[in-house]
Amino acid sequence: METWDALRARRNVRQFTDRPVPAEALDRILEAGRRAPSAGNWQPWDFVLVTDRAQLVELSKVWQGAGHVARAAAAIAIVAPQPQDDRQSALLQYDLGQATYAMTVAAADLGVGTGHAAAADQDQAKAVLGFPEGRFLAYVLSVGYPSDKPLAVLHRLNRRPFDEVVHHGRW
Ligand SMILES: Cc1cc2nc3c(=O)[nH]c(=O)nc-3n(C[C@H](O)[C@H](O)[C@H](O)COP(=O)(O)O)c2cc1C
Repeated sequence: METWDALRARRNVRQFTDRPVPAEALDRILEAGRRAPSAGNWQPWDFVLVTDRAQLVELSKVWQGAGHVARAAAAIAIVAPQPQDDRQSALLQYDLGQATYAMTVAAADLGVGTGHAAAADQDQAKAVLGFPEGRFLAYVLSVGYPSDKPLAVLHRLNRRPFDEVVHHGRW
């Protein structure tokens, strides 16, 4: 896909086929996250790739809205350091957003769907993923081929109108 098409085809996917995502595709998606920019280049992320069904089911229990993780071909758990203060917390969320979005667009480019999930139950996350002290599970990305319809450029969007969002020169 062209970059512009991948950007416009990406959507949050919550229903997946059983088709596995090839290892090379998963690596490319993870590489997109690794290459993301971050404040001072601190790269505050680790990615735990999960493909085992039983582990995906357990991972889906970290948040009531993470049910789609259980049915995905794979999931990327985005693990981050506990922020030291409010400023670091704000930078962290910004940087994790950039890494996450890079992965979602790289996936869309391959026709692979992704779905965000927040994470609440950190005890469950730690039990499933085994990350060290001082880290937390920030988000989970479900990964897989969409079962509702293939990824294609979206023409009808549930977004605020362009002219309302974009201001020229002054608000
Ligand atoms: C930070 C963040 C957290 C999200 N958490 C969840 C979630 O826990 N469960 C879920 O099903 N979708 C989650 N989403 C998906 C959003 O609901 C979705 O991206 C939004 O409605 C826009 O739809 P689109 O991604 O298809 O364009 C999350 C998205 C973001 C950016």
